[in-house]
Amino acid sequence: MKKDLGTVQAVFPMPVLVIAAYDKAGTIQTMNAAWGQICDTDKIALFLDADHATTKAIRETGAFTVALADRTHMAEADYVGIVSGNQVADKFARSGLHAAKSSRVNAPVLEEFPVAMECTLAEIAETKTLFAVVGTIVNTLAEERVLDEQGKVDPAKLDAIAFDQFRHGYYASGEKAGQAWNAGSALAKAALGR
Ligand SMILES: Cc1cc2nc3c(=O)[nH]c(=O)nc-3n(C[C@H](O)[C@H](O)[C@H](O)COP(=O)(O)O)c2cc1C
Repeated sequence: MKKDLGTVQAVFPMPVLVIAAYDKAGTIQTMNAAWGQICDTDKIALFLDADHATTKAIRETGAFTVALADRTHMAEADYVGIVSGNQVADKFARSGLHAAKSSRVNAPVLEEFPVAMECTLAEIAETKTLFAVVGTIVNTLAEERVLDEQGKVDPAKLDAIAFDQFRHGYYASGEKAGQAWNAGSALAKAALGR
C-alpha cells in the first residue's frame, strides 16, 4: 500500500555536478548542483540560485564547466555545496581541488573529477517558476582511466556518486542492470505486432 509523502522531490538518482566558473576578477567559483540535467543533445540546464557566487560568475564570463563528482572526491564536492564564495573569499583554495583553464571556453577545468563538460552560456531562462542556466556543451573531457575499449565512459570505472533527495545520501553504484532500448524489446515487439 502506498503512503502519501506530500510534496517531495521524488526523483532518484540525482546527479552530483560540480560547476566551476571564473568570476570577473578571475577567481574560481565552484558549487555542487544536483538540480541539473541534459536538455538537448548539446545542452545542459542547471537550476541554480541566482545569488550563488558561481551563478554570478557564469553571468559575468559566459562560460562554465560541469564535472561529475566521483566517490573519491565526495568530500570536496560536498564542501563546495556547503560553503559559499560569497562568504569565504578563498573557498576554492580551501577545497584542496586544482584547476587548469579550459582550452575551449573561459572556465576552469577541475583536475580531480574524471569527466567534465566545457560549456558556454547559451541563456539564462527566467520565468515565474524557473531560473535555469542553460549551457552549450562545446566539448567533454574524460580521464582515460574511465574509458572502455570503444573510448566511451564506462560507469563502472567512473564511480560517480548520485544524490538522494529523500534522505540526503550520496550513493555510488556502477552496477549495470540492463541495456536501454533493449530491456523492453519483447514487450515492444508484442505491442507493435512484429
Ligand atoms: C548535494 C547538494 C546539491 C545541491 N544542489 C544545488 C542545486 O541544484 N542548485 C543550487 O542552486 N544549489 C545547490 N546546492 C547548494 C549550493 O551548492 C551551495 O549553496 C553553494 O554553497 C553555493 O556556492 P557559491 O555561492 O560559492 O556558488 C547543493 C548543495 C549540495 C550539498
